[in-house]
Amino acid sequence: MMELTDRHYRYLMRRLTRCTVLYTEMLTTAAVLNGDKEYLLGKDAGDNPVVLQLGGSDPIALAEAASIGEAWRYDAINLNVGCPSDRVKSGRFGACLMAEPELVGNCVQAMQAAVNIPVTVKCRLGIDREDSYEALSSFVNTVASKGCRHFIVHARKAWLDGLSPKENRTIPPLRYEYVYRLKEEFPSLKIDINGGIVSLDETTEHLRHVDGVMIGREAYYNPSCLLQADSLVYGQTGPHNQGHERSETAMLADVARDFAQYMQSQYESGVRINAMSRHLVALYQSIPGARLWRRHLSEHASGAQDAIELVDTALSYVFDANQSVTERRYAP
Ligand SMILES: Cc1cc2nc3c(=O)[nH]c(=O)nc-3n(C[C@H](O)[C@H](O)[C@H](O)COP(=O)(O)O)c2cc1C
Repeated sequence: MMELTDRHYRYLMRRLTRCTVLYTEMLTTAAVLNGDKEYLLGKDAGDNPVVLQLGGSDPIALAEAASIGEAWRYDAINLNVGCPSDRVKSGRFGACLMAEPELVGNCVQAMQAAVNIPVTVKCRLGIDREDSYEALSSFVNTVASKGCRHFIVHARKAWLDGLSPKENRTIPPLRYEYVYRLKEEFPSLKIDINGGIVSLDETTEHLRHVDGVMIGREAYYNPSCLLQADSLVYGQTGPHNQGHERSETAMLADVARDFAQYMQSQYESGVRINAMSRHLVALYQSIPGARLWRRHLSEHASGAQDAIELVDTALSYVFDANQSVTERRYAP
């Protein structure tokens, strides 16, 4: 998600879940080809699996950008055919490409020819009045015929004229049944569902019908929703599970302290602390002290030089509010 899922956010998420596939922000082909590659594509060694999402519609440029993504060790390259913003439309990429399935197919074909990792497509149900199931099925069929085996479908259409990008994430109704039907019609394709999914319970329910679930806003604005993803969805042990029963508050404190160490080392190589700590603000929700946690991080991160002190002080508000002696036992 643009402005949100940068490398620092992804580092944080890896403290919560080892198995969940993470996505970059959408990067345009021009940015990947001409921009500062370390800044745009650089990632932590423990990030994977991570998918690089590209925006563009020129098969040659996309192929080149995909190949750069592979060299930077991304696990897959995703083509954005779902973003409805005007800026994206004028650049002829994003959701408006749903009207040009042949072109999308050509892009995927060129990208797939350039790399040995999967090339996937993220799309909407449709755009404007072209929103029937048949139109979606025809789009997927055309793009699949050029080699795309994996689609992530945001289960609502986009209105390109008249709605803002934000409205396009809420106003058009969710139609999960279209995505389920797609999986029934194309059983050999990998079909993931996206849109309005906010819990692991909902995730496991969707997984009865489709191959994968993408969680967007909830994973950013309530990252702890993924705390149990490794165990509940993948049947694996999470990074914070140390073999004994621990409260969620204590596990999140470990995540926060680990991230504080990371922030400090990044700060020492020139990254502002508040450019990273913003991702931590929503870690605690709906528990005593969460408001003070958020306030402390928001008010003291700007100009901060000691990330460990910043986070420790914010954590002390959470612990004090919970008056939890048990949790303090786990503090170093
Ligand atoms: C601030 C913001 C930025 C986003 N940027 C992207 C993006 O770069 N690429 C993309 O495919 N979707 C992007 N999205 C859309 C989300 O990936 C997702 O499809 C949408 O929010 C619906 O899923 P959700 O209800 O789980 O959030 C963005 C959403 C938000 C809120």
